[in-house]
Amino acid sequence: MSRPRKVIVVGGGLGGLWAALRVAEAGFQVEIFSLFEVKRSHSVCAQGGINACFDSKGERDTIWQHIVDTLKGGAYLANQPPVKSMCEDAPGLIQTFERMGVTFSRTAEGLLDLRLFGGVKHRRTLFAGASTGQQLLYGVDQEVRRQESLGRLQKLEWWEFLSLGLNQQGACQGIIAMNLRTMEIKAFPSDAVILATGGMGQVYGHRSTNSTNSTGAAACRVYQQGAWFANTEFFQFHPTAMLGDDKTRLMSEAARGEGGRIWVPRDVDDRRRPGQIPEQDRFYFLEEWYPSYGNTVPRDLASRAIWEVVHKLGLGVGGEAKVYLDLTHLNPGFIEQRLHAILDIYRKFHGTDPIHEPMEIYPSAHYAMGGLWVDFERDDTTGGIKHGSPRNHATNIPGLYACGECDYGYHGANRLGANSLLSASYSGRVAGESVANYLQGLQQGHPSPEDPIYSKEINHQQELNRQLINDQGEENPYQLHRELGELMSSQVGVVRDNKTLNNAIESLRTLQQRSRNINLQEHNSWSNQGLTYARQLQEMIRLGEVIAVSALNRDECRGAHYKPEFELKLPENASAGDPAFEAYRNQWKAQNQNWLKTTIAKQTDWGPQVDYQAVDLSVLAPEEPRDYR
Ligand code: FUM
Repeated sequence: MSRPRKVIVVGGGLGGLWAALRVAEAGFQVEIFSLFEVKRSHSVCAQGGINACFDSKGERDTIWQHIVDTLKGGAYLANQPPVKSMCEDAPGLIQTFERMGVTFSRTAEGLLDLRLFGGVKHRRTLFAGASTGQQLLYGVDQEVRRQESLGRLQKLEWWEFLSLGLNQQGACQGIIAMNLRTMEIKAFPSDAVILATGGMGQVYGHRSTNSTNSTGAAACRVYQQGAWFANTEFFQFHPTAMLGDDKTRLMSEAARGEGGRIWVPRDVDDRRRPGQIPEQDRFYFLEEWYPSYGNTVPRDLASRAIWEVVHKLGLGVGGEAKVYLDLTHLNPGFIEQRLHAILDIYRKFHGTDPIHEPMEIYPSAHYAMGGLWVDFERDDTTGGIKHGSPRNHATNIPGLYACGECDYGYHGANRLGANSLLSASYSGRVAGESVANYLQGLQQGHPSPEDPIYSKEINHQQELNRQLINDQGEENPYQLHRELGELMSSQVGVVRDNKTLNNAIESLRTLQQRSRNINLQEHNSWSNQGLTYARQLQEMIRLGEVIAVSALNRDECRGAHYKPEFELKLPENASAGDPAFEAYRNQWKAQNQNWLKTTIAKQTDWGPQVDYQAVDLSVLAPEEPRDYR
């Protein structure tokens, strides 16, 4: 008798929960694996909002404009059919969230309220104060619990994904996971696996806004089993992170969307308190450099502008790497109501009140536009994706799907703020539907847990643990992680060049060697957090290499990947059609072999091998270079 069809979802953030919900609703058994209680997943930290065209402010916003803004914001590197479908489905998704009980902020008339976010001219961002991710996650979790109570879904919290169970044909048939309390390693067979394990910001260590569990380790493990990464060189630096020695913390883009202004004193030696510096002595550089978008230019441009002000013009506040994010000119009651959650964080960790004194901020690693490569099927009639196709969100390993931040699907070279809660939810829903249809086409069921495909993998994983526990190495994993964060942010950061990237790759290889010589200090076999951390660290270093090698291979400036020596500059007063500029642009395109191509990184014994794949541009012709002035 064949076993009932079962799907494993790894990760309990928005993407994972949506995927699990869809598979369970389609009538299949689901197991969700999570490193901790799913309600602590990193989606909970998303602050500012989620984009969807509602136009409740009567600004004549359109879904088409949402598509255009997303593609342009991503510097035209996103495959266009998935973006089109995502933006079209966004309003319906919001209505579903509402029906789940999510308490979006509303206008006095009771309409869904909207705020401005980066890279757009219309207010399109729905929000729940400044804790939107938390409200959305809790809403979906309620539905997941309903499926749990119906016996269709089970959560395995405090389990870590270690590897895939691959059959003789290379198809994915379950996972090997470790119980984080008992450290038991066990096989969990299934008919398909959906990876929804979030971002990899911890590759940038303490210089990231991400939670400590956003290590990318799970994605890196499937990469070593043959899954491809795509576009990993594109890492978003959020312009407004609050500084902190332990880590940086997100100060939402909503602060600028609600009227916050970024500035530095015009004179670096001006030591007056910010409130005593008059307007004429302040340099509002985003407003001067990008007059039509001002403080809400896309994140890649805002972060680079801050970098230039600090490192090229030497105008960081007090000569340090920081600038002001100022809310003090705004109505305190309004700001408190709209941004309470972030004000609270700033007060708690910095000790001053943003209502009375500008915040001190600097760009920090925030979001991986790249991730596991996933497929889609285009619907030639609609120009979007073919809904329900089992190709949507499938990785190159049969039976393995990916959704949420761990895939590369929707944001090209730079993500617009508040499109991540949208893509996480939307991609989870699509992946769940795809997998349900993939299961319909399967001939055979999954093997029993005793099958040799699992026992071999279990032995391998146990051996990795044994080595780390028994080795009396010399390296401290926490120190190595700090070095990794410094290296990645200084050498694979906001501004890049090939010489530095080559050095970074060498240093990462040395770090990788050192990470095999770790002294764990803890040798117990119960809840050994040092062991899991050391294993994740090894994956993060490997990921650092994939990011750096992909960055080395892309000789152009595109979105978040900025190599000044390869910049296509928009001349003063240039316009499309100007013959001199067109000739210059064509020459630039001809020299640039990676122009509008996706980077594909594949694991080999000697490191990542990089190939390219053309982007699907069937919806909108690119405007090169983008103009936000
Ligand atoms: O700035 C923010 O609130 C972050 C939102 C996002 O990354 O989408």
